[in-house]
Amino acid sequence: MTYHALVPAAGSGSRMGALSGRVLPKQYLPLAGRPMIRHALAALCATPAIANVFVVLAPDDTHWPAAEMAALGPKLHVLRCGGDTRAHSVGNGLRAMAAELGAIGNDWILVHDAARPCVTVAMIENLIAEVGEDDSGGLLAVPVADTLKRCDENGRIRQTVSRDGLWQAQTPQMFRHHLLLDALDFAPQVTDEASAIETLGLLPRLVPADISNLKVTYPVDLQMAEWVLRNREKA
Ligand code: CTP
Ligand code: MG
Repeated sequence: MTYHALVPAAGSGSRMGALSGRVLPKQYLPLAGRPMIRHALAALCATPAIANVFVVLAPDDTHWPAAEMAALGPKLHVLRCGGDTRAHSVGNGLRAMAAELGAIGNDWILVHDAARPCVTVAMIENLIAEVGEDDSGGLLAVPVADTLKRCDENGRIRQTVSRDGLWQAQTPQMFRHHLLLDALDFAPQVTDEASAIETLGLLPRLVPADISNLKVTYPVDLQMAEWVLRNREKA
């Protein structure tokens, strides 16, 4: 089995507000002494099973710190083919990977957000082991822990929604290259790869992870990610 990672990193971080946006895209904000994106790339490059790590940048990205990233070694490849949505960035990346590597249709692709800096080698290896050779693929996820409320337009509760069987999807999400490319062509409006695969009628496996693999979306998430990374370093 051959595994490659694909890291979409062509967003701007609009929900990060003044911290990010036009000045410094979210994926480059300083986090535990490094640009945020370096943490996830380092974990993926350090995973022995992963042969190549492709990062998808916006074509006009001027912030990629090439010299600093060279330290991650020869597995890391830069693609400057980001699109106007995450799904387009992933689709463009899948095509560009195939152009570089040749026949990779049956290889496994682990798609991981640059905005999830706290992923560990152990989490990635667990995903690979749990999915095995199941063609439906799978993803890291956590069962919903909070009580869920549906509200009206005035912010008042209209319904308490059962959390039974509900999970929060994380990344990495791993699928075979040819299936993922077909799925994203078929359903380009999705916000994660699993949704695209679901539209093909397949049932991706949920692999339990934990909330330390958080996504940095809002400023407070950056503080929580900093805490996770610093406390792990001490452990
Ligand atoms: N992404 C991408 N191409 C896009 C949009 C997003 O490659 N056109 C990437 C982001 O860089 C990030 C990942 O997809 O690594 C997850 O997206 P998200 O957390 O939503 O980041 P942004 O889109 O940058 O943030 P926002 O939605 O707040 O603008
Ligand atoms: Mg976004």
